[in-house]
Amino acid sequence: MKPSVLIAAAGAALLAALPAAAADLAAQGKDLFAANCAACHNADASGIAGVAPPLANALRERLGAPAGQAYLANVLVHGLAGPIESQGQSFNGIMPPFAALPDASLLAMMAWLNTQNGQAATAGGAEALVKARAERKTPGAVRKLREAR
Ligand code: HEC
Repeated sequence: MKPSVLIAAAGAALLAALPAAAADLAAQGKDLFAANCAACHNADASGIAGVAPPLANALRERLGAPAGQAYLANVLVHGLAGPIESQGQSFNGIMPPFAALPDASLLAMMAWLNTQNGQAATAGGAEALVKARAERKTPGAVRKLREAR
């Protein structure tokens, strides 16, 4: 099988193994976000000026495209570093990688972030995550993905 076929199959298997329906998944993601991300991004993902960018609404356009879903998965797995602009604000911080969290937790947070940006909970999900996990990237390389869209 080609690697792309394998990744698609792994993604589908991962999704099928998830116990939760899409709505439950997003609800779990909200709780996981509060526990893991809110200190920097705020519990409602509205961001904190000078600390970390907004993630609710700010990623609408990006998450509407497959490349944006891949970007989100890569930020979670590998982190992000370097100067970025978001909604007229500048940030130049370091987003730590969250690769140590299980797939189900990362997928749930991706699902919730999708719903906060006008996308279906399962818009990107499992396949993007499996692919990001299979790659080695520095936080700086992930920032290049952000620019490359
Ligand atoms: C220690 C603070 C911190 C924590 C905790 C944190 N982040 Fe971040 N996050 C940042 C910073 C800082 C940036 C911007 C990095 C830069 O300037 O390049 C960022 C950027 C992002 C981006 C990219 C936004 C964009 O506009 O491209 C996403 C997505 C993201 N974080 C998701 C999360 C999620 C999900 C969690 C929890 C699992 C999380 N972050 C936890 C600090 C944090």
